[in-house]
Amino acid sequence: MSKNQGLSRRAFLRNAGMTAVAGAVGTSTSRATPSASTPFERTADTVFDFDTPYSRIGTDCIKWDEQIAKFGKENVAVGMGIADMDFRAAPCIGKALAERCEHENWGYLQTPKSYIESIVAWNKRRYGLEIDPDTVVLSSGVHPALIAAIQTFSPPGSKVLLTTPSYNGFYSDLTYCRVTQEDSPMKRVDGRYSIDFEDLERRISHDTNTLILCNPQNPTGNFWSAEDLTRLGELCLERRVVVLADEIHCDFVMKGQKYTPFASLPNKRIVDNSLTFKAASKTFSLAAMKSAWFFSTNPDLLARVKVNHRADINTLGVVANRAALTEGDSWLDQLLPYIDGNHEFVEAYVREKMPLVRYTKAQGTYLAWLDVSQVVDKIGAKEKAAEASKTSPKPVTPEMIVQKWLAENAKVVMTPGAEYGTGGEGHMRMNLGTSRKMIELALNNMASALNKA
Ligand SMILES: Cc1ncc(COP(=O)(O)O)c(C=O)c1O
Repeated sequence: MSKNQGLSRRAFLRNAGMTAVAGAVGTSTSRATPSASTPFERTADTVFDFDTPYSRIGTDCIKWDEQIAKFGKENVAVGMGIADMDFRAAPCIGKALAERCEHENWGYLQTPKSYIESIVAWNKRRYGLEIDPDTVVLSSGVHPALIAAIQTFSPPGSKVLLTTPSYNGFYSDLTYCRVTQEDSPMKRVDGRYSIDFEDLERRISHDTNTLILCNPQNPTGNFWSAEDLTRLGELCLERRVVVLADEIHCDFVMKGQKYTPFASLPNKRIVDNSLTFKAASKTFSLAAMKSAWFFSTNPDLLARVKVNHRADINTLGVVANRAALTEGDSWLDQLLPYIDGNHEFVEAYVREKMPLVRYTKAQGTYLAWLDVSQVVDKIGAKEKAAEASKTSPKPVTPEMIVQKWLAENAKVVMTPGAEYGTGGEGHMRMNLGTSRKMIELALNNMASALNKA
C-alpha cells in the first residue's frame, strides 16, 4: 500500500469512528504516518506565529475581497470588518483536512459521535461545563439554529428582546422570522456597558416570548457576570421569556476576565428556561466550514426547536472542527494573550495619539468598539448622511459616512456602529483578529487622516 493510500484509509476510518476495528474492514498492517516535513506537523511546544501578516486576498473572503470590490483596492490596506481572523489556522486543522482529502469520496455523512464528544469535552475541559451529549444538536451555523428557535417560540409579529448595541446579524434573523426587534439599550458608564434591568423589564409585554443574550456581547465585548446572568434569567423565567444564549465568542476571554456559561448557573429553573448556541467557528476562524451546535437542559424546549430546525452537516466542517476542539488548545492558548495584547495596543494607541476616538478595552471577543462620535462631528457625517439619504434607496447613516471616509482617507475598513441597533450610533467596530503589524498600520493611517481632517 502506498503512503497515500495508507493515509487516506486511516483518515477515513478515523473519521468514521472505526479506527479500533481497522483490521475488520481489511486494512493492511502498514500504517503510514504523515511526513514530518508536511506544513501541518507541529510538536506540543510549538510557538505559533501570529505576528507575520497572512494575506487572504484572492480567496473570496468577505473581510478583504468583498471590501476591495466595494471600496477599491487602493482604499483597503487593512480589512477590519466581518468577524473572522486573518491568521493561519491551527496546524491540527490543516493536517486533519489534508488527511481526509486523501480519501476521494464525499458522500452523505452520518453524525460522528466523536465530533459530539469533542464538543462536550471542550466545554468540560475549558469551562467545567457539563453538557449531556444527547442534548447536543449540530447545525450549519448559529444563524439557522437561532432562526429555528425564534420561529418555535416567537410567532410572526411578536417581539424579540435584545440588549443593545447587539450583533447586527440578529436583526437579519429577526427580519427573516418576521418578528419585531425590541431593543433595550444598555447603560454606559466610563466606556463600560451594563444591562439596564428596569428598561429590560418595562419592554417585556404579552407578546415577548424570547430574549437573545449575547455572552460575551458582540460588539461591545462585555462578558456578563453570574449575578447579571442570574438576574436576567430570573426576570425571563418570571415573565415567561425563553433565553436564547448566543455564546459563540465565549472562547475569547481577555486577561483577568471570566466566561460564565448561562447553562452553568446554579438555579436549574433558570437554566431550564434557556437554549445555548455555540460554535468553534470564531475560536478557530472556521466560519465558512459551517458548523455550530446548540443544547438545552430542558428536553421540551429542545424537542420543540428540533422540529423546526433543518441543517445538514458537511464532511470538511466536521473534520476541521473536531480537530480544532480535540487538538487546538495550545494554539488557542497562545492566541489569547496575543489578542489581549492587540486590545491593549489599541487602547494605549488611541489614548495617546487619537484624541477624536475613545476606546475601553473589551473583556472578551477580538472586537474593539470604538467611540467615534467626535469623528462624526469633525467630518460632518450627519449632514453628509442626510444629504446622501435623499437619493439612496436605503437610509445612509453617519457611521456609513465614517466608514467610507476612513476607507478613502486611511485605507481601513470597519463596520458602522449603527448596524448594531440602538446605542450603536457614533461607533465603529474594529476587528482585531489580525497581526499587530496590520493593526499598527491601520492606527497610523487613521491617526494621520484624522490629524488632517
Ligand atoms: C454573536 C454572533 N452570533 C452568531 C454569529 C454567526 O454565526 P454562524 O456563522 O455560526 O451562523 C456571529 C458572527 O459574527 C456572531 O458574532
